[in-house]
Amino acid sequence: MGHFRKLGPVDAAAMAAHLCRLPDSDRRLRFHGTVSPAWIESRYAGLDWSRTVAVGLFDAGTLRGFVELAFDSPLPTPETHAELAISIEPAFQRVGLGRELTARAVTIARNRGAQRLTMLCLPENLPMRRIAKRLMGVMHQEDGTVEADLDLTAATPLSYWLEAVQDTTDALSGSLEFWPRVLRPAPQTAEQGA
Ligand SMILES: CC(C)(COP(=O)(O)OP(=O)(O)OC[C@H]1O[C@@H](n2cnc3c(N)ncnc32)[C@H](O)[C@@H]1OP(=O)(O)O)[C@@H](O)C(=O)NCCC(=O)NCCS
Repeated sequence: MGHFRKLGPVDAAAMAAHLCRLPDSDRRLRFHGTVSPAWIESRYAGLDWSRTVAVGLFDAGTLRGFVELAFDSPLPTPETHAELAISIEPAFQRVGLGRELTARAVTIARNRGAQRLTMLCLPENLPMRRIAKRLMGVMHQEDGTVEADLDLTAATPLSYWLEAVQDTTDALSGSLEFWPRVLRPAPQTAEQGA
């Protein structure tokens, strides 16, 4: 049973490990070019968490995907802008998780005071273009990259409530997955079983 939860600095190594597990083709789509595992590890070890919010998808305790919001300033200003990037491992793709994580990121960006959200992808990235079209509508192509821009409406009590409910249900589903896994009795050895 998978679950979502917000990520933090303690998850940096798991984020890098997930990105390094992606097939080369997906990693290229994620970073719009070729990047080495060493570059990924160094980027996530040094991520500026004052400008980042990320939500992860976990399965059996392993991070299998995440959406990352990079804000252009640590505190909201009248011009605050956020950029979204996402990846999901192939075994978990095509069941709506990309759409769900992206929709959550839109709510979070609104609630952090962002005025505008941008999503960049390569022109051949059909899943990302479908997600962007559904959520954002306006897309334009420039320098070999497709850019989707969404002017965000201001946060409302409902958008704060939605994020709080999602965090609460994430904590609950995370606990339901965590405790049975860690409390499962250790398998008996042949000697013990005899
Ligand atoms: C982009 C990505 C996160 C989508 O994740 P996902 O969980 O498979 O997405 P969903 O299941 O929510 O599907 C989203 C839409 O794409 C469509 N789709 C998914 N895979 C597809 C494929 N291989 N070809 C065409 N359409 C596809 C789905 O049908 C759905 O369309 P709909 O909303 O019109 O029904 C995933 O493909 C991925 O990690 N790609 C590599 C990294 C990347 O490209 N990141 C984006 C740039 S930052």
